Amino acid sequence: MTEVLPYGRQWVDDDDVAAVVEVLRSDYLTTGPAVPAFETALSDVSSAPNAVALNSGTSALHAMYFAAGLEPGDEIVTSPLTFAATANAALYLGATVRFVDVEPDTGNLDPERVEEAIGERTRLIVPIDYAGLPADYDRLTPIAARHGLRIVADAAHSLGASYRGRPVGTLADATEVSFHPVKPVTTAEGGAVLTADVELAARARLFRSHGITREAGMLERPDEGAWWYEQHELGFNYRLTDLQAALGTSQLRKLGRFVERRRAIAARYDAALAGQAGLTLPARRDGVESGWHLYVVRVEDEGVRRRVFDRLRAEGIWVQVHYLPVPWHPYYRRLGYPTDDWPVAADFYRRAISLPIFPRMGDEDVDRVVDALGRILGDER
Ligand SMILES: Cc1ncc(COP(=O)(O)O)c(C=O)c1O
Repeated sequence: MTEVLPYGRQWVDDDDVAAVVEVLRSDYLTTGPAVPAFETALSDVSSAPNAVALNSGTSALHAMYFAAGLEPGDEIVTSPLTFAATANAALYLGATVRFVDVEPDTGNLDPERVEEAIGERTRLIVPIDYAGLPADYDRLTPIAARHGLRIVADAAHSLGASYRGRPVGTLADATEVSFHPVKPVTTAEGGAVLTADVELAARARLFRSHGITREAGMLERPDEGAWWYEQHELGFNYRLTDLQAALGTSQLRKLGRFVERRRAIAARYDAALAGQAGLTLPARRDGVESGWHLYVVRVEDEGVRRRVFDRLRAEGIWVQVHYLPVPWHPYYRRLGYPTDDWPVAADFYRRAISLPIFPRMGDEDVDRVVDALGRILGDER
């Protein structure tokens, strides 16, 4: 049987395993020293002064929106071309979501359209760094400033990427990242909030653990005794375990290498597919270095997408589609979101196929995908 080539997968080595085993044999499986050590490592790689580790990218989004002050009745402005969690986390807090269409080539939130979508209740602008390519922060930042809004980024795809020399983690008021196995580095499940804002980080930290604090400076009654703690907000148990944090620290040492390999794979696809009729390749932007979480091609004729997708899968090339526009999900339709307001995202979705890309993929794997795609598209002509 031909080996199945997934669209993404982790790369876990002996040193990662050893790091986890060491924690298993230690005193703390959770709430121990591996978590702050991971947060320090995250700050180091991202240049974000504060990092708060959480047990998923989704909980990191929830904590980030909470920490940025999102309340019932507020609204966020975001892209429909994302994973549902970006929007769901706002609904968790009783806020609503205003979806704004994307740029036709990058699939990122279109700054041109953001300003007209801002209303009375808008609090946050939430760009997604789709496929690992940072959104256009230099155009979004002045829009946010003009309206007194904050930008909080969904960078689940883009840790290790950079925008005009600035790393992901420093481009927005706060940035959520994810450590799901297909992501730039993994902790199995996991996520983090990165920010320069000390207060926002403190609120995210509080939210991560029930809204409970033991910090003397925060307690209303600091003199009750060493057992004393107080709940100040309605938080959750969103803590990352020490096992996962140790895995994350070990993985982060390889982030540079992983991203470099992803870039080499993207370059190999670009070169091999450049002349391929019927196909649009991922866009690049001057001065913006993608982390290449995904390599998304678009077929020119949307009528062939389904067949091309099915045939690639039949050959063991486990392609994916990112994403069904969020407001198209039955849940969002039930909430009354229209389905035809985002023609660019809809068109992007209808043509998109995510080809396999992950650091451990060999050049021969890339060539196998290129050959199969060329052959299948040839049959469709
Ligand atoms: C754009 C985007 N946002 C948020 C998430 C949620 O991250 P997690 O799976 O770690 O909860 C994902 C992950 O699938 C994602 O791709």
